[in-house]
Amino acid sequence: MAYYFEEPSRTFNEYLLVPGHTPADCVPAAVSLKTPLVKYRKGEEECPLTLSVPMVSAIMAAVSDDKMAVALATEGGLSFIYGNQSIEDEAAMVARVKDYKAGFVTSDANLSPDMTLAEVVELKDRYGHSTMPVTADGSAHGKLLGIVTERDYRLSRMSMDEKVADFMTPREKLVVAPADTTLKAANDIIWDHKLNSLPIVDADDCLVALVFRKDYDSHKSNPDEMLDSHKRYMVGAGINSRDYAERVPALVEAGADVLCIDSSEGYSDWQKLTIEWVREHYGDTVKIGAGNVVDAEGFRFLADAGADFVKIGIGGGSICITRETKGIGRGQATATIEVAKARDEYFRETGVYVPICSDGGIVYDHHISLALAMGADFVMLGRYFARFDESPSAKVMVNGTYMKEYWGEGSARARNWGRYDLGGKKSLSFEEGVDSYVPYAGSLKDNMAITLLKLKSTMCNCGALTIPEFQDKAKLTLVSATSIVEGGAHDVLLKDKAPYASNTR
Ligand code: IMP
Repeated sequence: MAYYFEEPSRTFNEYLLVPGHTPADCVPAAVSLKTPLVKYRKGEEECPLTLSVPMVSAIMAAVSDDKMAVALATEGGLSFIYGNQSIEDEAAMVARVKDYKAGFVTSDANLSPDMTLAEVVELKDRYGHSTMPVTADGSAHGKLLGIVTERDYRLSRMSMDEKVADFMTPREKLVVAPADTTLKAANDIIWDHKLNSLPIVDADDCLVALVFRKDYDSHKSNPDEMLDSHKRYMVGAGINSRDYAERVPALVEAGADVLCIDSSEGYSDWQKLTIEWVREHYGDTVKIGAGNVVDAEGFRFLADAGADFVKIGIGGGSICITRETKGIGRGQATATIEVAKARDEYFRETGVYVPICSDGGIVYDHHISLALAMGADFVMLGRYFARFDESPSAKVMVNGTYMKEYWGEGSARARNWGRYDLGGKKSLSFEEGVDSYVPYAGSLKDNMAITLLKLKSTMCNCGALTIPEFQDKAKLTLVSATSIVEGGAHDVLLKDKAPYASNTR
């Protein structure tokens, strides 16, 4: 006979935190959000990989590319570069994150000496940059011949046919710096020579990057940055349980700090075989997470298989229709609570603490607080990050409002067969995700600052200065349907919804 769980399957929206005593020194500025990313023998050793903030970005083409990875690592989280692309392309994205030097910009608008003033103006309009390097072949890393800025031409006096070579500031008049220059040293040169930009060149005088005067302040180091021992940004990468023998070596070679098997349902032999292969070839040096699971059995299976962390969540993602199409899944809150208990039991039995990640279904910022309070060590978000400037998807105007495109890995658009494959023939014959828009929300930095402040504030309400303390002290209550109504603004007429309000959307 089928097994029936005693508890219904519940979502984050059905819970609230009940405040505890807040000591006077428990203020948001004193809260640490550090949290373990991979397994370790808690109490005996330090966790080898710790997140500064408990947020990672989803393994999705609409969310996690190298640009997102750099932005998120700067704020203390981590991206998992999407695996639904060729091995070469994914490895190249990882390598770009590892090679990224804050403040060192690879120029995207470049000139060759035989281009015309008309082309300069066209490029300036297209990219919005007024500083354009001139290289022998017109590429971002060609031999540097000069630079063109707005000070080099006067549209009202010059012919649009004039050649770049005739009006650029030539190489011999430029101040440049060698490739191993630090951001601080580059900034000093910029100040000493009153420059607006400084070209960085290699030993062959080929252009490596530009450093801009205006960027220095925004790139001063951030205390939460996720940096490896060589001070490079840290990055994760998604893999699948099919081509790991080729993909894993390429990603490791490119510098990935941690891998994660990306699957909609991870309680399977395929994941075990993938982890075993990694252990056989790399021992414990390559960190690998697995998932997704939604109960204690699934967690235990992956922890026993050697997973470095376990991801929780089936059917809760904002773009997910798995529950509708296949009837599998579990409310994200119930799944997180049960897996957290299994994680603690596993720790008591083995001394090994296997971090767990609540993946999908985070709609409001306070859902992050709830997931952590319920025992998650960190959360994975797709929709949240897709809304920002840094996500790879297009920003489009829909009915007068800016939106970003956001599509599921199981949608017809992504066709990420590997994520839904159960090991038989290639067989995604139905969709498990949708293609959608999400409201554009601006920069990652600004949004995360608010989200994390809310989280810290909630933790203080519960008297906690660290995430483990929060998990220990949190008091959670189920809410009734009517108390959910009470929790929102109610019995007032909201100004932007009031009839005749000028900003009615
Ligand atoms: P969100 O943060 O609620 O948007 O959920 C993101 C999570 O949804 C991802 O990390 C995946 O676990 C999951 N996911 C991504 N694509 C799909 C899909 O097409 N169908 C179902 N789940 C998906």
